[in-house]
Amino acid sequence: MPELVVENLVKSFGGNTVLEDINFTVQEGEFFTLLGPSGCGKSTTLSCVAGLEHPDSGTIRVGDQVFFEGTGKHAVPPEGRNLGLVFQSYALWPHMTIADNLALPLKLRKVSKDEQRRLIDEALGKVDMLHLRDRYPHQLSGGQQQRVALARGIVYAPGVLLLDEPLSNLDAKMRDQARTWLKALQREVGITTVYVTHDQIEAMSLSDRIAVFMHGRLQQVGTPTEIYETPATPEVAGFIGRCNLLEGRIGEAPADRRTVRVELGDTGQHLDVVRTDGAAQGQKATVGLRSERITLAERADVPANGVNVLEAKIAQCSYTGARFEYELTVGGLTLQAESEVRYTGSEISLLIRPEDCLLYPAAA
Ligand SMILES: Nc1ncnc2c1ncn2[C@@H]1O[C@H](COP(=O)(O)OP(=O)(O)O)[C@@H](O)[C@H]1O
Ligand SMILES: [Mg+2]
Repeated sequence: MPELVVENLVKSFGGNTVLEDINFTVQEGEFFTLLGPSGCGKSTTLSCVAGLEHPDSGTIRVGDQVFFEGTGKHAVPPEGRNLGLVFQSYALWPHMTIADNLALPLKLRKVSKDEQRRLIDEALGKVDMLHLRDRYPHQLSGGQQQRVALARGIVYAPGVLLLDEPLSNLDAKMRDQARTWLKALQREVGITTVYVTHDQIEAMSLSDRIAVFMHGRLQQVGTPTEIYETPATPEVAGFIGRCNLLEGRIGEAPADRRTVRVELGDTGQHLDVVRTDGAAQGQKATVGLRSERITLAERADVPANGVNVLEAKIAQCSYTGARFEYELTVGGLTLQAESEVRYTGSEISLLIRPEDCLLYPAAA
């Protein structure tokens, strides 16, 4: 199964450009996720790959089989692309048994009756649904219908599997379980997979690599660790996990050459953050700071060991079971932080390591 390549993909609807120069390559056997907020262009990208939408321009190919090139005069129709498709709506035929639903794509491909049976049972076996092969869709739970939809997506051994928010109709607990078996299934089948979701936890836990979309543009492609630890832009940092974005200005360099000092708004406080290229004194900058990387401490307990210390006020504290989530203010800035400890006073110190600060100098 060869790689999927998308190059310079552009798509507009009625003069409104929704995809601007999208480029990515999905490696053979890779679980690759398109992640971003609703309306950012994930489904449109997937539909272009599937051949359900006609791009304005670009290249889409699997190995050396070109599906779309230039403006698509010779675009391969969807049925010629041999892709497996699974959508949020399961789209099972209600008047057909599960086995007959899976038989449909095989009949289209003129597979013999015996071979159909073998492939159907094999696919249903992979999703643990073989015992329900003769039931009708309405006799199954949502989670079971989702498994059947997946089995139908892989029954004819497509070159690439395309999944668009396939778990979002399941309730939270089912979704967790479905995630686990979906990952196991993809590993077992070894099929190149493009997965669309707006759910960052889903993306982080399932994917080999993630492509983060915002407003029709690709912001970053990377492993879950790269996306989380070194987000390319403040937008990516803000979208993945709980990340505070603090506006400031780069001030005088501290004695230490490893860091730069960022004055935080007009709070009179600053953070020393690990230096990045292109950070110049006087420049505006955004500091990204993940809520779980902030350590809370009573003022009397602050160690004198070179970490940043911000003096904050507690605006709100909520209990989530596992921990307490705090809303804090530092001057006019608002921050989220969390702790296993309940602090009842109104003032608190925040301990922040320079290497936990993500520095984004503003474009000049
Ligand atoms: N058929 C269509 N006609 C007009 N606009 C569309 C159509 N499909 C999608 N769009 C627009 O394109 C943008 C991207 O949509 P979509 O790819 O569905 O986003 P996502 O899947 O990331 O939520 C949105 O602004 C959406 O309104
Ligand atoms: Mg969508």
